[in-house]
Amino acid sequence: MFRIQAALAERYVNATQDQLEDWIGAARSTLGDRLLILGHHYQRDEVMRWADARGDSFGLSRRAADTHGAEFIVFCGVHFMAESADILTAEHQVVILPDLNAGCSMADMADLDSVETAWDELAAVTDIERVVPITYMNSSAALKAFVGRRGGAVCTSSNARSVVRWALDRGDKLLFFPDQHLGRNTAFQLGFGPSDLRVWDPKRDLGGLEDADVKEAAFLLWKGHCSVHQRFKVEHVDAFRAAHPGGLVIVHPECSHDVVDLADQVGSTDFIIRAVGAAAAGAIIGVGTEIHLVRRLAAEHPDRTVVSLDPIVCPCSTMFRIDAAHLAWCLESLVESRIVNQIKVDTDTAKWARVALERMLDIV
Ligand code: 13P
Ligand code: SF4
Repeated sequence: MFRIQAALAERYVNATQDQLEDWIGAARSTLGDRLLILGHHYQRDEVMRWADARGDSFGLSRRAADTHGAEFIVFCGVHFMAESADILTAEHQVVILPDLNAGCSMADMADLDSVETAWDELAAVTDIERVVPITYMNSSAALKAFVGRRGGAVCTSSNARSVVRWALDRGDKLLFFPDQHLGRNTAFQLGFGPSDLRVWDPKRDLGGLEDADVKEAAFLLWKGHCSVHQRFKVEHVDAFRAAHPGGLVIVHPECSHDVVDLADQVGSTDFIIRAVGAAAAGAIIGVGTEIHLVRRLAAEHPDRTVVSLDPIVCPCSTMFRIDAAHLAWCLESLVESRIVNQIKVDTDTAKWARVALERMLDIV
């Protein structure tokens, strides 16, 4: 999705890291309890050190929902996370995303028009009342509202299994978007096989499927993926295992199923942090997720060897947009009573997206 972030003033562009730290620290103490900074695990260290709470998508959405005191929530993460925080917080609370161009390329792979088209096409060949739409947290508020209106729910990488089980109690089929990999990995974890799944290609009529495919499938998986996690390949796992027999492989469920299948453990960013923390001293751990988290884990556990499975470093370029300069600008603006980069979801969309998010929070 195209968003426009105005260029920062020279003061911030030309500042040294020390100056930015001083400015952020001063603004933060001036704002005191009025401010809450949330940081997703993929954020840079220069940003993460200021976070009052760190978390995965699920943990941060729960934290936003439970935050009643703070007037300003500065969300150091990406756009869909800030939207969810806005939906789950009270009317008087303001959610700010330090750089408006911090989106998510996967979230942009499903838009409301194409999902509505898919829904209408499905309705022509199957009993649509028995189809439950499930959207991954990594999606726009408009898609969360779409599933809220149609009896579906949101899921994250830490609760996808519970949400999918919940959905299967309510219908015969899931339309799961936008990440085919999380959908496939979850279906396999629940005991489904390849014949239960079909990939829905939004660029083709009826998703590129025959009527019989739609009728047969339990999971219609949107053809979307994460550009960061799709880089991890079987060859990386094989190379790591050859170099470190006895090493531990931990990956995020946005990786493809062949990689997940070879891993020892699979889970959300928070799960990965706990799994590395639980590994024995001396363990050699190959991790399949975004590089800032992998590097932080390596630094926090000097008695273990934590490496990326992919030797060619791959940051999430949109998470990376949030830096100390943008954070300093947002906070100093708040001190001057100017709200910049507010993320505000319109009332009707927020109402239905909240239904879908609260269903998720109730399920888990
Ligand atoms: P988590 O919910 O595991 O933090 O994942 C979010 C994400 O965007 C991973 O790419
Ligand atoms: Fe989106 Fe992938 Fe970045 Fe996560 S890592 S925010 S899914 S592009």
